[in-house]
Amino acid sequence: MSVRRLKLGLLIQNRGFARSLREADLPQLMAVRREFKAHDVESTIKTFWEMDPNGVKVVESEKGEIMGVCAFIRHHDLYFGGLFCVRPKFQGLGIGNVVWHACRDRIGPNNAALNAVPGLIEAYRNKSGFSTVEDEFFCQKYVSTQPVNPHKLTNIIPKDVIIEPVQNQHFPTLYEYDYSIMGYDRRLAIYLNCREKNSNTYVATQNGRIIGYGTIKTSCMGTARIGPLYADDPLVAEALVKQLIISLPNVNGFVMNTLSNNLFAENILQKLGVPLVESLTRMYTKNKMVVNTSKIYAIFDINLAPF
Ligand SMILES: CC(C)(COP(=O)(O)OP(=O)(O)OC[C@H]1O[C@@H](n2cnc3c(N)ncnc32)[C@H](O)[C@@H]1OP(=O)(O)O)[C@@H](O)C(=O)NCCC(=O)NCCS
Repeated sequence: MSVRRLKLGLLIQNRGFARSLREADLPQLMAVRREFKAHDVESTIKTFWEMDPNGVKVVESEKGEIMGVCAFIRHHDLYFGGLFCVRPKFQGLGIGNVVWHACRDRIGPNNAALNAVPGLIEAYRNKSGFSTVEDEFFCQKYVSTQPVNPHKLTNIIPKDVIIEPVQNQHFPTLYEYDYSIMGYDRRLAIYLNCREKNSNTYVATQNGRIIGYGTIKTSCMGTARIGPLYADDPLVAEALVKQLIISLPNVNGFVMNTLSNNLFAENILQKLGVPLVESLTRMYTKNKMVVNTSKIYAIFDINLAPF
């Protein structure tokens, strides 16, 4: 073991390892995530941190610099992991292991899931117990470094469908709609999501019934990121994407994270000319979470939520 690694190992041990993220850490955390060119949204990390205040762990240097981060957010009976990274200048020193185990120790025997980058699939399966591999879909990252033209998308929406900004009176039916897709109560996450700054949420209704909703937000890279986006019908999903893009001008790119088995979502991204940049593998420590993926057009957050 090199002297540097040994010294750092001792330093980490003496400092009591990792600690939970604090709200004041968020700007620094976003700077770390920008180093990885991750299109994360600060307000969404705050949303999930509010849902689970011990769900995000960081390791910091003596100078108070964040060196590494990992999140496992509690969603009902599943802990969902992401944001796992160590700043390049501190990699290979054991910090990844420390921050990872700080999260894993909290999960205990409960089910956990994550989206693995290709290079870590074997490590997660063989060393970390993520033995159940999703074989129905990959999680797909679509990223354009240029703004997209929403007018390439359809104007045709099914009869009687109204697409409008979310308002207070929508919340009870919005919670019910989300529950019908996810199978567990996410009302706090949805409420906070709809109130995030620099973001817009639209709902699609038909005869007073919600049949889809979506949110667009500004990422730490200055891109517009859509997610969540759920809809009963592909035309409604496309119309929501169009409206969301129009609602958030002056961005420097576009991001949407989808599931590979929703071909209608892929079709929308093809029309917009947004390339697929990475496919991640969904892995669980126990059982898979089963949802109707045909209604999921954009994942809420690829690092913080299962769908
Ligand atoms: C993955 C990453 C966080 C590891 O951080 P690190 O501080 O360099 O890792 P450590 O020094 O603690 O550990 C390195 C070793 O632990 C393994 N390891 C690290 N995290 C692990 C995990 N969660 N599960 C199993 N093994 C892991 C590595 O494969 C490596 O194994 P080796 O010692 O046999 O070579 C870091 O390389 C990184 O930031 N990568 C880019 C971001 C990324 O790909 N994140 C993963 C998204 S799924």
